[in-house]
Amino acid sequence: MKLIAKLSGITLAAVLAMPLSMGAQDLKLSADNIDQILNAMTLEEKATLLVGGGNRGFSSSTESTIGATQNLVPGAAGTTAGIPRLGIPPTVLADGPAGIRISPTRKGDAHTYYATGFPVGVALASSWNTELVEEVGKAIGNEVLEYGADVLLAPGMNLHRNPLCGRTFEYYSEDPVVTGKIAAAYVNGVQSNGVGTSVKHYAANSQETNRTGVDEIVTPRALRELYLKGFEIAVKEAKPWTVMSSYNKLNGPFTQENKELLTTVLRDEWGFDGIVMTDWIGKRNTARQVQAGNDLMEPGNVSQVEEIIEMVNNNELAMEDVDKCVRRILQYIVKTPRFKGYKYSNTPDLKLHADITRKSATEGMVLLKNENNTLPLADVDSVALFGITSYDFIAGGTGSGDVNKPYVIDLLTGLKNVGLDVNSSLADLYLSYKDYNEKKAAHDRAPGGWFWGKQVLEEMPLSRNAIDKQADLTDVAIITLGRQAGEGRDRVIDNDFNLTETERTLLTNVCDAFHAKDKRVVVILNMGAPIETASWKNLPDAILMAWQPGQEGGNSVADVLVGNQNPSGKLTMTFPISAMDHPSSLNFPVDPSKRGSSGSYNRQPAKNVDYTRHDEGIKVGYRYFDTENKNVSYPFGYGLSYTDFAYSKPMVKADKDGFTAYVTVTNTGKVGGKEIVEVYVEAPKGSLEKPRNELKSFAKTKYLKPGESQTLSFKVTDYDLASFDEAGSRWVADAGNYKVKFATSLDKVLATADYTMRKTFILPVNDVLRLADSN
Ligand code: BGC
Repeated sequence: MKLIAKLSGITLAAVLAMPLSMGAQDLKLSADNIDQILNAMTLEEKATLLVGGGNRGFSSSTESTIGATQNLVPGAAGTTAGIPRLGIPPTVLADGPAGIRISPTRKGDAHTYYATGFPVGVALASSWNTELVEEVGKAIGNEVLEYGADVLLAPGMNLHRNPLCGRTFEYYSEDPVVTGKIAAAYVNGVQSNGVGTSVKHYAANSQETNRTGVDEIVTPRALRELYLKGFEIAVKEAKPWTVMSSYNKLNGPFTQENKELLTTVLRDEWGFDGIVMTDWIGKRNTARQVQAGNDLMEPGNVSQVEEIIEMVNNNELAMEDVDKCVRRILQYIVKTPRFKGYKYSNTPDLKLHADITRKSATEGMVLLKNENNTLPLADVDSVALFGITSYDFIAGGTGSGDVNKPYVIDLLTGLKNVGLDVNSSLADLYLSYKDYNEKKAAHDRAPGGWFWGKQVLEEMPLSRNAIDKQADLTDVAIITLGRQAGEGRDRVIDNDFNLTETERTLLTNVCDAFHAKDKRVVVILNMGAPIETASWKNLPDAILMAWQPGQEGGNSVADVLVGNQNPSGKLTMTFPISAMDHPSSLNFPVDPSKRGSSGSYNRQPAKNVDYTRHDEGIKVGYRYFDTENKNVSYPFGYGLSYTDFAYSKPMVKADKDGFTAYVTVTNTGKVGGKEIVEVYVEAPKGSLEKPRNELKSFAKTKYLKPGESQTLSFKVTDYDLASFDEAGSRWVADAGNYKVKFATSLDKVLATADYTMRKTFILPVNDVLRLADSN
């Protein structure tokens, strides 16, 4: 490592000036000699570099000339291979996204390697605060660096096409602008540490059911405007070091072998200059991946190396294609801390990061209801804390996004920490129920385990008598409803999107009992995706969507409940009345009985398992509900505050490539807070049918004291306003009058202004990613 560090500073001139006697065996990689290294590499070495070091089985004691990755950071998802002869170190890739995922303990080592469990993606996105997300990214990236990894396999940026997707918690929004801007902030934060990110899963990985086999059938327009748009923004604004191609097929081929996707659009149109790696699939279609511009195959298998060698030797794969990928991987490697010989400490500042997660989680919490200023709690000493999830709080989702964190603060602890008196007889009842459940399902909930736990913790039935007693004894009731979900499985409607019978009974009885005594009920939602709310939201007095807020979760919720923090999150997706209201539900695996048949042959392909048609096109989320005037439970962009805001002085100034909009926000209420302004644009009637409103920009104020104002500005280009015209394969924004709406929520526009586009904007792009004829 020392040698590498020394050599990394050597310039090309210096290498060329080396005495001939040094010979090829002394040639070592530096930032300036990539071409020379490429020339010196054998085919075997090149093939080795294209294939991750994951499954080769080399251990730290194995002496190997090529491919040695060693067990560098136990628990990390993968590596790139090392080639010691040429001074090419292996590099380490670790999950992602709510913190770095590595093994917390190591054999024979008393030191622990816990990583901070930050709020999940949807919680961060709901803050709509790019500065905050960047700060969180910075803290996460510091742990990546200090634990010896080179790339964080994050952020997850697939669109919320349907709320039943199992990985909704990891992703950001049903809107591509929110997705792209939040991802860019996250990438900038992580990469400010000199480590990389991998924006994933490119692209249209919209469901977990048969994710490694399903063909997502999407029109070029929906792809360009929605499913690719977020990636485009993140690539252009934050230059992620790597992109992860997804498991699924897209309009026929696997994304990993789709040159149009990985080269024409990603590199040629957007200017991406990093590496593309596969998702963790192993061997698939080696030659086609290389030809498509998928540089790195993860986790990697020696048979893939052999195949590349064989194919090049048989002229089935051009050396030129191999070289392109090798060069890009070398360009990546010279940027990594491992190449630079960074001496990582294995002791990141977990205390500081716990403070960052505690605070950042509160900014993404969404106050859905707050009748009679129930929150923040005032004149409340004693609390009746209901719901098993209050005691078994959910910090994050399951699968590769599950961070091995040192602890999770539950809500019981959080409430006690802010000085509230939680009724202990009720708490004891729940705690013993939790113990019993845990023993029953120990294998499901192994700490740090990969396994899918239950989607819904079984709620404890409570008699009406017991609830009445609590209504006598305490000042307020808090009920937590929890949902778990994750990688490899989609959610279901019954007893998951919809409440269970036990939950409904608990909610009804608690509201009845407490309201009879003129006492309030607060519901906390601890989950990573929407649930059904329309049928019961009239019952409690306040509802707070806390998401899965990371390891400090209970503290973060308590901070909001008592008013130490004013919630300022807003929904990044629509809450429909029923799960089937989303048009995509007609083409989504909502029926569990039809699952898991992939892999069985001799049968017709199953709809929504082997292929999924995005018949709704661009009518995803609010682009459907708003345009078609459909009722929803909570609209996109919705979220209340403990204070009020007024908007004034809306203005639009045309500039050379679009406009800049301005609005002044004033805190007109009694407590300090932050406001998110959403800028929607309604286009003039033109050649293409468009959604009525589309979010084109957003910004969040600083913390405004009562009476304080701030003017926010929003830059929107004509390209941002354009829609994709499939017939002409071009982006088009028609000349005319665009209504610019400054809104506190999609359904609540507080100010407007106009932008006149004088000349129709047209940008032709490559005619690619068309639907296959058979589709
Ligand atoms: C997931 C990726 C993850 C990778 C490595 C895959 O199964 O889809 O998101 O980064 O595993 O753990």
